Amino acid sequence: RPVVVDSVAALRAQIRDWRHDGLSVAMVPTMGALHDGHISLVRMALAKADRCVVSIFVNPAQFAPTEDLDKYPRQLAADLDRLAEANAHLAFTPTVGEMYPAGFATRISVGGPSSGLESDFRPTFFEGVATVVAKLFLQASPDFAVFGEKDYQQLCVVRQLCRDLDLPVGIIGAPTVRDAHGLAMSSRNAYLNETELKIARQFNVILRKAAAALAAGGSEAAITGNAVSALAEVGFDKIDYVQARESLTLAPWRNDHSGRLLAAAWLGKTRLIDNIEIPSS
Ligand code: PAJ
Repeated sequence: RPVVVDSVAALRAQIRDWRHDGLSVAMVPTMGALHDGHISLVRMALAKADRCVVSIFVNPAQFAPTEDLDKYPRQLAADLDRLAEANAHLAFTPTVGEMYPAGFATRISVGGPSSGLESDFRPTFFEGVATVVAKLFLQASPDFAVFGEKDYQQLCVVRQLCRDLDLPVGIIGAPTVRDAHGLAMSSRNAYLNETELKIARQFNVILRKAAAALAAGGSEAAITGNAVSALAEVGFDKIDYVQARESLTLAPWRNDHSGRLLAAAWLGKTRLIDNIEIPSS
């Protein structure tokens, strides 16, 4: 079973011991409710380093007051079972008070890839993510950290953060793990009822078609517009965006560059995001 620590001091003490023994460390930051997507990151971390630290912290700083902080799934015992199975070495499970003691007053704002897409709908989200990720990296000082492509814009923002602040952490991107129907695994899928789940499984199908049409050289506005209509038609209640971007910078896509198609849409009170590569033509 993984060692479980909930204080920064205990985390640092364990990592100091490993460093003393010459061991390398990879970190997997999570908000818990672990599924196969998270476990794939643990596997990647273990392939890259001698020790794997998984943080489980539902980070209030990245939730807006109207969002699902209170009902976000919390299941620590089951999470620790999954981490034991995956041979993770340490789980860091800080309280909100440990991460944000009274008087906490710093926010990290990353530009570049954080502009647009998610930020148009969740304007303080990436400040919350960048702040907690910077803290986790300074607390654990890992050699590597693994992030999923499922949250593609987040991965780009974290890379920018490390580059700009000279954080000596190698960022590894991991492919999105999907169910048999292609639905990207997400802790928030637990909110979906049977009918919504069926609709959700169309998300990747519609994005895949749109990405193929983009690769074939069709009009970007027409194709993304059609994807929005198709999502509405299969039953999504509100489509926040479907946009093509340049893969590395998230600047507007030009079809001579490798691209990514990113989207966010609502099913009832559940907001889903997904993205896929635009295959090179
Ligand atoms: P969370 O949503 O728990 O995701 C933790 C990590 O798992 C992220 O890097 C995410 O991209 C990855 N992940 C989620 N679903 C995945 C899937 N289906 N396939 C592959 N990877 C997947 O993302 C966060 O937490 C938070 O914003 C965090 C970075 C921990 C900061 O609070």
